[in-house]
Amino acid sequence: MIICKTDEQVELMRKAALLVSKTLTEVAGMLQPGLQTIAIDERIGTFIRDHQAVPSFLNYHGYPFNSCISVNDVVVHGFPNKYTLREGDIVSVDVGVILNGWHGDHAYTFAIGDPGPATRQLIRITKESLYKGIEKAVTGNRTGDIGHAIQEYTEKIHGYGVVRELVGHGLGRDLHEDPQVPNYGKRGSGVKLKEGMVLAIEPMINMGKKDVFTEADGWTVRTKDGKPSVHFEHDVCVRKNKADILSDYGPIEAAERKNAHLFAEG
Ligand code: MF3
Ligand code: CO
Repeated sequence: MIICKTDEQVELMRKAALLVSKTLTEVAGMLQPGLQTIAIDERIGTFIRDHQAVPSFLNYHGYPFNSCISVNDVVVHGFPNKYTLREGDIVSVDVGVILNGWHGDHAYTFAIGDPGPATRQLIRITKESLYKGIEKAVTGNRTGDIGHAIQEYTEKIHGYGVVRELVGHGLGRDLHEDPQVPNYGKRGSGVKLKEGMVLAIEPMINMGKKDVFTEADGWTVRTKDGKPSVHFEHDVCVRKNKADILSDYGPIEAAERKNAHLFAEG
């Protein structure tokens, strides 16, 4: 069942999405070589609770942390742990909150210093593909139009692998609502988009082949070929001519630039 949101509800969801953006901004400011990913997760949990919200991933189907922190060849659902970030790593940080009963869920992939030109390009193209998908999130289009736009740009034009096993989703009072929003598909296929639908659009794009596997912990998803993978996620509301992006990369990107001096190449 797809639940369209009223304008009032969308504003509440914007508050939840923006709290995630604020949390990711906090993360952007603390990233540096030598930091353990568990320390990021602890900060995320504290920050969310300090803002009268709850980390929604914690205990979701038994997920044991506040956030998902996925380094290099980990695609998504990485466990925060004692791994120490190094210059050249890339790290996807995925955060969910429940604020006043409404979910925010979005993600950003950061570079620790310079991961090299090929990985820098993977990050840039994946982020751009998210916006190409969002452009299609308008009334009358279908979920397949979003997926097609993302797949066309990443797979067809740039030769990357689009992960098939994991998809974007509706968002609202629940973390995962209908419809599913694949990052691949045929134009004009799938569920018809209506005004007020709120979607979490989240391309997961591999430098190499699309194939992934889940580790024995039941969560950690990695690329089979060991090459890096990038994940970006926004929460958007479907509107007539232009989707309304509820989350915001602006402050995250600003903090990322400000933080660049902490890395060797600055
Ligand atoms: N952004 C991810 C998703 O939408 C986060 C879920 S992680 C989980 O699926 F731990 F909560 F499952
Ligand atoms: Co999501």
